[in-house]
Amino acid sequence: MASQPSPPSGVAEAARQGLEGLRGRDLLSSADLSAAETRALLLLAADLKSGRRQIHLGGKTLGLIFSKSSTRTRVSFTVAMTRLGGQTLDLNPQVTQVGRGEPVADTARVLSRYVDALAIRTFAQSELEEYAHWASIPVINALTDLEHPCQALADYLTLAECFGRTGDGGLQLDALKGLTLSYLGDGNNVAHSLMLCGALLGVNVRIGCPLGFEPDAGVLERSRQLAAASGATVEVVHEPVATVHGAHALYTDVWASMGQEDEKAERERAFSGWCLDEALIAEADSRAIVLHCLPAYRGLEISAGAIEGSSSRVFDQAENRLHAQQALLAALLSPECAPPTP
Ligand code: CP
Ligand code: NVA
Repeated sequence: MASQPSPPSGVAEAARQGLEGLRGRDLLSSADLSAAETRALLLLAADLKSGRRQIHLGGKTLGLIFSKSSTRTRVSFTVAMTRLGGQTLDLNPQVTQVGRGEPVADTARVLSRYVDALAIRTFAQSELEEYAHWASIPVINALTDLEHPCQALADYLTLAECFGRTGDGGLQLDALKGLTLSYLGDGNNVAHSLMLCGALLGVNVRIGCPLGFEPDAGVLERSRQLAAASGATVEVVHEPVATVHGAHALYTDVWASMGQEDEKAERERAFSGWCLDEALIAEADSRAIVLHCLPAYRGLEISAGAIEGSSSRVFDQAENRLHAQQALLAALLSPECAPPTP
């Protein structure tokens, strides 16, 4: 006879409760999640990564609509669905009617009849929101010009692995509270989701950028509201050493994002002096880790020494895209993560 399953631990129970409301929801912004939901997703990601938990979706399909290039997001979503017993369908705009201009309202309603969720990478946040409005299935932001919430989940999972490991290999997310993550560079989509998600988790987020490249004012205000609730801070500074001083994580991203290719030369001039290098790492906390969402330009926003050095966790971070998105997909799609039937 099979042994009885052991009752859920306090941590597992708290995680389950945080996941209960996520089934069927969209993830358009990091701020769509509550602090409890964000924490629950990170704990589930850690459990899936370690093999302590396995979830099967029973043949569900995720559609990918990517209007911009992608290696990590595309592959990690595909592998995550495969590990969950589901599959992905590449709905590349060039080979579907999306690229010929079929209205989002029609595409979203039709695809909702075929697939169980959509992960969308596009330019305008408003287009993503339009998909979400018309779709009757979960819509996931796989990067827009405004946000990259799946990236932020993987980033804070990586930070928690470095600063919040428990003796039994689990994660203690309260260890994130009071840490400082410093982001150097453009106040872009990656910075925005780091601000919002960090604020939810109680991480102090310090954005350092040249004048004129600050994060969006609305995102800054929202992240400061969330930070006030968690006891954290969100700062914007304009000097590289002041940005990294005493920080526990140093993060950077490209200076010209996808869609800004024409501004590349002008931005390289504006960001001169903002390369994350060994000299800046020396100004941070002695335990500081180096993060980059990738792809990276060595010698521009990050030095080869910083990305390849002993403080770098960029490849753990890239791996964590898989675990964080597997947790997200499970929470949005799996009855196992839903509340018990009354
Ligand atoms: N970090 C990230 O989103 O990488 P891709 O553009 O390769 O998906
Ligand atoms: N800010 C970058 C992130 C790439 C993952 C871009 O949008 O191109």
